[in-house]
Amino acid sequence: MKGIQHANSMPVLCPSDDDSASRSTSSNENSTNGDMKHAESSFCLTDLNEEAETPVAPHVGYKKVLVTGGAGFIGSNVAEYLLARGDDVVIVDEINDYYSVDIKQSNLDHLRSLFPDESRLSIYKGDICDEKFMLDLFEKERPKWICHMAARAGVRPSIQDPYIYIHSNIKGTTHLMELAHKFGVENFVFASSSSVYGGSKSSYFSESENVDNPVSPYAASKKACELLAYTYHHLYNLNTSALRFFTVYGPRGRPDMAPFKFIDRISRGVEIQQFGDGSSSRDYTYISDIVEGVVRAIDRRHKYEVFNLGKGSGTSLKDFIDLVQKHTGKSAIINVLPDQPGDVPYTCADVNKASKLLGYNSTVSFEEGIKRTVAWYNQAHGTNDESVGCATASHMGRALSIIDLDREC
Ligand SMILES: NC(=O)c1ccc[n+]([C@@H]2O[C@H](COP(=O)([O-])OP(=O)(O)OC[C@H]3O[C@@H](n4cnc5c(N)ncnc54)[C@H](O)[C@@H]3O)[C@@H](O)[C@H]2O)c1
Repeated sequence: MKGIQHANSMPVLCPSDDDSASRSTSSNENSTNGDMKHAESSFCLTDLNEEAETPVAPHVGYKKVLVTGGAGFIGSNVAEYLLARGDDVVIVDEINDYYSVDIKQSNLDHLRSLFPDESRLSIYKGDICDEKFMLDLFEKERPKWICHMAARAGVRPSIQDPYIYIHSNIKGTTHLMELAHKFGVENFVFASSSSVYGGSKSSYFSESENVDNPVSPYAASKKACELLAYTYHHLYNLNTSALRFFTVYGPRGRPDMAPFKFIDRISRGVEIQQFGDGSSSRDYTYISDIVEGVVRAIDRRHKYEVFNLGKGSGTSLKDFIDLVQKHTGKSAIINVLPDQPGDVPYTCADVNKASKLLGYNSTVSFEEGIKRTVAWYNQAHGTNDESVGCATASHMGRALSIIDLDREC
């Protein structure tokens, strides 16, 4: 324990410009230690004293959390939240060039500028599959809590090069679970994906559904991780929770994903393609809601569970484009094309299980999320006419389609 006291109630993240200000306390009010540095963090912390009880009570108090993929979009946001509430964080990330390494480096710089104390935030650059590197890290840091976000993401690139997905996602996760059980980790929370529902015919995805028909190596790798997690729970009583994220977006969001690309292209007057009449609908989740769900899962040592983390309602492609136009103040140049075979009209997350077992509820509407993301985009990239950060050739200049919206994460 490094001199930071925790409130007995569980702090819950909300974006600092959340209009539900009555729920919010300033970060200083929440901290009981004056030297805790999180004043400039884009998050504030809220105590929900009247929170509904969950079957597994949250662990309260200090943690040292290993955040893999902590230079990436979701990992860096989770790390920021954990540090802001007083936990210590160890980040491991190989900082690969799936998208611009400058973006990942700037995520780490952002964290370091907020939390300069190296005893609270340690950053390691390396591959989670590297046995000696990871063993040394565990022996030195001895994290008892793991938030495993590192993975090769992206569906289409996984079809082009499945082997790096098998390496980072399946071998990497197996390696981490081996270390987790050997070092007596309390809780192993990891990122799965809504992509596991890819072969599903239903439109309201529930965890009870059979997902034995993944339609890409990426989806198969996430399903494999869920199966391995069960095995580690069965063999070694490792507490594991798999989190199936539904398209996550927001400030610092991944440049290969539709929300960022739509905002970027519409802002720069570059054409987007719309397949069908725009009525197809998807579930998009704002980053602070996802971070809250991840942290709730870290705090609760479920034995073995799979959770959907989404907004729980869909937004049509047409509304999506309209909102981006409204908040960028620019008209989209839309090339309307016929429906693609296999498109489904409506897909979204059933989040009842996460609500009951984690106390999770999304709070940021899609319009509010887009408004905040556009504000961030304008600040970060507003004067730049160049396409931003999409590093891989397979993503550069690729036309957007409703298929992309469904299959990118
Ligand atoms: N963003 C979404 O909408 C979404 C949706 C579903 C699932 N997910 C999953 O959530 C997790 C985080 O996603 P994100 O959007 O932040 O992606 P991201 O690409 O921004 O972050 C992943 C990070 O993992 C690192 N990494 C990859 N392989 C590694 C390895 N072998 N060793 C060490 N580091 C490695 C990368 O360098 C990257 O910084 C991923 O597991 C992803 O599959 C994301």
